[in-house]
Amino acid sequence: TPTLNIALLGGGTVGSQVARILTEDAEALTGRIGATLQLTKILVRNPQATRDYQLPAEYYSDQVDEVLDGADIVIELMGGIEPARELILKAIAQGSNVVTGNKALLATHGNELFEAAAQAGVQLSFEAAVAGAIPILRPLRDSLSGDRVTRIMGIVNGTTNYILDQMDTTGASFNDALAEAQRLGYAEADPTADVGGEDAAAKAAILAHLAFHAPFTLDQVYTEGITEITDLDHKVAADAGYIIKLLAIAEQLDDPTGVVLRVHPTLLPREHPLASVRGAYNAVFVEAENAGELMFYGPGAGGAPTASAVMGDVMSIAKRKLRGGPGRTHTARRELDALQIGETTTRY
Ligand code: NAP
Ligand code: HSE
Repeated sequence: TPTLNIALLGGGTVGSQVARILTEDAEALTGRIGATLQLTKILVRNPQATRDYQLPAEYYSDQVDEVLDGADIVIELMGGIEPARELILKAIAQGSNVVTGNKALLATHGNELFEAAAQAGVQLSFEAAVAGAIPILRPLRDSLSGDRVTRIMGIVNGTTNYILDQMDTTGASFNDALAEAQRLGYAEADPTADVGGEDAAAKAAILAHLAFHAPFTLDQVYTEGITEITDLDHKVAADAGYIIKLLAIAEQLDDPTGVVLRVHPTLLPREHPLASVRGAYNAVFVEAENAGELMFYGPGAGGAPTASAVMGDVMSIAKRKLRGGPGRTHTARRELDALQIGETTTRY
């Protein structure tokens, strides 16, 4: 069976779950694509630390070159801007395809990364960057590409939805609910961007990029978080039949150049479909001229749900590579060519 080498940058909440799936589901994954997805190394800051899913010590390294060496697919799950940006560019330059869940990086340096990937002829995939497990980016980019999307509105940050839900339903304090969201693996390493709205704003920029076929960046999104919301706000809203949700909204105005992007707490009637989105779940409404109204719903944060989206991108890249698609000339391709088995043993 041909082998595709996978390097993982980051072995935290999401990276650990990707490592688990690549290890425990290896046989099933191989059966689906006719190739072995071989996890080679995991880049971490502290190779000695205990992980949510622990592999033998030789998998963990703090040496970038050692981890990137020979990788057909590099999965970036470190978070932050640097060194994630520099390492993705390095991976692209060596001809590796890249999968990332790093919305903060994409919403600030996306153009640079996409251009580098296009020039190198490799793929840069990022389904995990928006709304966790929910397949939302591929439908926008592919399924709706022949339609005209007019509006996207949704709950795209699991941490803030969890906090607002806990404050509303159990009377938990903001700080206790945030601590619990961190413990459950929903929050960013630094939760400032979650509660401040910037994480949702980055996702709004990415959604708008795909929906409206033009690049948008974080600084184009009006952003207001949930840090000013008090217990009293929840009580007043509930008494009046409303619920407070942090919404991300991207609207195409009639003027074809006009797109408005905003993230802010919103009062929703309790019977509104988005009002019933609980815990760290996300939901995204999409309105398109011909399709009408679509709704996407599911787990929006957490290790395993996000790893599911990462693995979808990995499998998609692996299938394309095995058909002779983009990326470095790797041993797997050479093995396939030598054995002339591409068509008969590659299953989809
Ligand atoms: P995390 O738990 O903080 O894990 C980050 C990992 O990267 C850790 O293993 C850390 O090593 C490693 N790392 C960070 N900086 C490094 C550096 N300079 N050099 C070497 N290793 C470094 O983060 P996460 O929650 O898994 O999130 C990872 C990415 O996925 C982020 O971009 C996040 O926005 C995105 N994401 C997360 C979720 C979620 O629900 N958590 C959902 C969607 C997308 P150590 O363990 O040794 O410190
Ligand atoms: N911190 C993010 C959230 C992770 O809470 O939604 C998923 O992108």
